[in-house]
Amino acid sequence: MPTIESVLHETRVFPPATAFASQSNIPSMQAYQALCAEAEQDFRKFWAERANAHILWHRPFTQILNDQEAPFYQWFTDGVLNVSYNCLDRHLATQADKVAIIFESDDGQVTRSTYRDLHRRVCQFANALKAQNIRKGDRVVIYMPMRIEAVIAMQACARLGVIHSVVFGGFSAKSLHERIVDAGAVAVITADEQVRGGKHHPLKATVDEAIGISDTATVRRTIVFQRTGASVPFDPARDVWWDEITRDISADCEPEWVAAEHPLFTLYTSGSTGKPKGVQHSSAGYLLGTMISMQWIFDYHPNDIFWCTADVGWITGHSYVAYGPLALGATQVIYEGIPTHPHPGRFWEIIQKHRVTTFYTAPTAIRSLIKSGADLPDQYDLSSLRLLGSVGEPINPEAWIWFYQKIGRSRCPIVDTWWQTETGCHMIAPAPGAVALKPGSCTFPLPGIFAAVVDEAGHDVEQGKGGFLVIKKPFPSQIRTLWGDPERFKRTYFPEDIAGGQYYLAGDSAYRDADGYFWIMGRIDDVLNVSGHRLGTMEIESALVAHPLVAEAAVVGKPHPVKGEAVTAFVVLKGPRPQGEAAAQISDTLREWVTKEIGPIAKPDEIRFGENLPKTRSGKIMRRLLRALAKGEEITQDISTLENPAILEQLKQPSA
Ligand code: WT7
Repeated sequence: MPTIESVLHETRVFPPATAFASQSNIPSMQAYQALCAEAEQDFRKFWAERANAHILWHRPFTQILNDQEAPFYQWFTDGVLNVSYNCLDRHLATQADKVAIIFESDDGQVTRSTYRDLHRRVCQFANALKAQNIRKGDRVVIYMPMRIEAVIAMQACARLGVIHSVVFGGFSAKSLHERIVDAGAVAVITADEQVRGGKHHPLKATVDEAIGISDTATVRRTIVFQRTGASVPFDPARDVWWDEITRDISADCEPEWVAAEHPLFTLYTSGSTGKPKGVQHSSAGYLLGTMISMQWIFDYHPNDIFWCTADVGWITGHSYVAYGPLALGATQVIYEGIPTHPHPGRFWEIIQKHRVTTFYTAPTAIRSLIKSGADLPDQYDLSSLRLLGSVGEPINPEAWIWFYQKIGRSRCPIVDTWWQTETGCHMIAPAPGAVALKPGSCTFPLPGIFAAVVDEAGHDVEQGKGGFLVIKKPFPSQIRTLWGDPERFKRTYFPEDIAGGQYYLAGDSAYRDADGYFWIMGRIDDVLNVSGHRLGTMEIESALVAHPLVAEAAVVGKPHPVKGEAVTAFVVLKGPRPQGEAAAQISDTLREWVTKEIGPIAKPDEIRFGENLPKTRSGKIMRRLLRALAKGEEITQDISTLENPAILEQLKQPSA
């Protein structure tokens, strides 16, 4: 393997303040190392003890880890539990009147729901699902605005052992359709519309369009929450209103006790082929991961006001909105809208208003907030904050320092958390009372997580050298399989050609510095990271070539100051190569097309047209050249294998 050279060089170090460390859940490096050593000694016992301490079991487990069918690992196999019981019922005796969710709507209205309220609404909605004949093991797609009701829908599914699959509200009808079909969903839970930044966007109409595409005969019901009261198409044979089915319904709902390995949910994510992958998570192992990371990395304390800005459509919104905070009995903020409406200080205003202590967001949001008002935070009282967090991509040192100084007022540690949809919870992230921070590094693995940087043979690479980021031992919160595609699961995450398939392969490259800190370098596959979201280049390419004008397309990422990466598409049309005004028009058409096919996040920033694409003699598209072209770099690389060098000239300039 050619060694991947690292480019980041950051030397500043921020040790934990004594006052912070002394009250934190892992209060020193020694404490952190002791936990690691304990896990090192017997990782099965390590996780078993934590599973017993954190999860309320209906029937305790006797088997810790079943690795007979590796890599299809099973944890706590004979244990029986219910995740919703662990998130809600457990608090009723001790803190029923504690606020679980402070919800702020797009227009600034605030509602507070206690654990008692939330439990009642979840039970009622679960009973309503039962009355619709939705049962344990059924799949339900949730396509909802970022509101309490989305959490209720997820928790109600969990209560019944129904497997939810949340689809982010920004995905198109086509993408939604694909996920409904792959999951074989029996129902879709949605809303009439969603409201973001004062604008209304359709949801129900998109669901109808998705169901209308084909092969969605499995969908017997759509349940529609009325967010705006807009008039939407309604098919009485299939559609029901959320309010109607939950009115006058009992709030007693015995949880469905499920086996530890019962799938809690699937969540689709992009891979390096055109077809999204349905990442399947377990009940017990996943729950444990969210709880333990809340404790160790978010240093959870009962008085915290926790705010994770992620939408429930992403894994972050599952683990650190819908499950983790509730399982710990936390008070959290959920905000429906966008950071910049009605003014660019909205996030800071929310922190001030609700006295947020723990604020978790993405580098792309931080960069866009710097752009829309680097000094705006000065106008707000952010003194309630004690911990900041970042997720989705490496945070660039400039954004880190701004976040640290302007938001944390140089008092709050920043936890840079590396993890994935597939890992379910944080994998590499600082325990903030123990680890000295280096801006741009996610620092060290959580205790019990055996992360390493290896070469193809599985040997740890030298310090400072790049390699494959792997996790060497199984861990409770890991992906169980890809829904309906166990072969792809094996091939993708435990490929034979890397270390003989014995390690979990994350798909990222990384290196460790002289102090052993992990630095993430980027994806090793054809996956882009746009605004902290994964997009497969193949997925966008398939969308482009599905357009009648397009013969061929190749998509690459180009560094972008706010989004991290922006989508650049190189396109060959069936007709002649367009120029000038014609190129601009077709470019607009294709950008809109991709938005419709996948969703606005996949829309190319730029499209360049050529008569062909740069290919090797064997016909392979040379993506490294396209990446250089997208960046506007001179091609200094070896192009001796290039079949058609003249094409590079055509692709150098933006077409319009
Ligand atoms: C990919 C996972 C985990 C929730 C958000 C994204 C990148 C994520 C970091 C980080 C550097 C990061 C990786 C990873 N990534 N967090 N702190 N530092 N890179 O979840 O869509 O499953 O994407 O996001 O490339 O593999 P996801």
